[in-house]
Amino acid sequence: MMVCIRKIAILLLALALNACDKPGLAPKNEPYRFVIPAHFPKPAFDTGNPASRAGVQLGRMLFYDTRLSADNQVSCASCHDPKLAFSDGVKLSDAGVSATALLRNSPALFNMAWANNGLFWDGGATNLESQAFAPLTAHDEMAQDLDQLVMELNAAPAYVSGFQQAFNEPVSAQNVAKALSQFQRSLISADSKYDRYRLNSHGESLTVDELKGQALVRQKCQSCRAGELFTDQSFHNNGINSDFSNTQHEGIIQGRYRITYEPADLGKFKTPSLRNLAFTAPYMHDGRFDTLDEVVRHYSNDIKGSTTLSSHLPKEGFGFSQLEKKQIIAFLHTLNDYSFTENPNHQKLANH
Ligand code: HEC
Repeated sequence: MMVCIRKIAILLLALALNACDKPGLAPKNEPYRFVIPAHFPKPAFDTGNPASRAGVQLGRMLFYDTRLSADNQVSCASCHDPKLAFSDGVKLSDAGVSATALLRNSPALFNMAWANNGLFWDGGATNLESQAFAPLTAHDEMAQDLDQLVMELNAAPAYVSGFQQAFNEPVSAQNVAKALSQFQRSLISADSKYDRYRLNSHGESLTVDELKGQALVRQKCQSCRAGELFTDQSFHNNGINSDFSNTQHEGIIQGRYRITYEPADLGKFKTPSLRNLAFTAPYMHDGRFDTLDEVVRHYSNDIKGSTTLSSHLPKEGFGFSQLEKKQIIAFLHTLNDYSFTENPNHQKLANH
């Protein structure tokens, strides 16, 4: 009996050592097991890029790697910081290779597996796989030459084996984008106070103010902040501007119109989620509001009318009382997921 136990122990040790053979890399092509929160809808995964453990791990290495930029100084995380729910805390980032301020605020990245109605503030990218090429090559972001990138990654043995494991193919720009996408789809945020309350876990309850705030948000904001993702993934004009005649910078302030050329899309921008707002200030596509107080004041009293203003917003604003504003903000803070921003599986790998 003793021998038997010892044999099992040795076998387990051997397995453990074997698993450590290639630090940081999962066994070849083992599917990545997404843990879908019980109250979330089913995500629409892109079948052209099924996630594997090795692919997610590779994407994680790439996301934090400054070799992805022309001057080897900028990584995706320069503008998408895990501690800030993968946003960057600044109005308009100048963290790119050219050190020139961008024209839009860096959005947070979480629950991307459900973001299936276009990416970017104007929906200009169809999916994560195609989106990645924009920051990689944009002059004011990473300004990378893709052939150069493949050469640089090929010089790193961890990547040569990483790409083989994840895709059974050598390093390629296409697979860089695929791995980055797999990692980003693994960034699931569903462990806020609200979620625990919603799922009746840990005996969580909401305060009277938070519950009143929830009722107000449901009543006034639900049409666009729908469901458990707290976004309808769609595009709306929320009344922060009324004049969209400025065509500078390829019509950047014209919102979705610059993609569709439909006059009905003038000034429409993607609805960001109400989750994790404690980490994602400043707010709106141009980062114009520093605080949630300012945001709620906008919806309450400062809505600017125009022909494309969302029909869900009253031209004169909602006219919230001071107490209502306080309650709305109290509820919004129940949607902050601190275990997401601290999740060790999302951070930069220590040995890389
Ligand atoms: C210099 C800052 C910067 C860098 C570096 C950067 N991004 Fe971004 N990212 C932004 C900004 C700004 C936007 C919004 C642009 C827009 O909507 O026009 C954005 C948007 C996105 C979006 C769309 C999110 C959504 O909800 O629509 C994704 C996904 C994304 N970035 C991933 C990446 C990845 C992957 C990398 C690395 C390959 C990267 N970013 C590098 C600043 C940056």
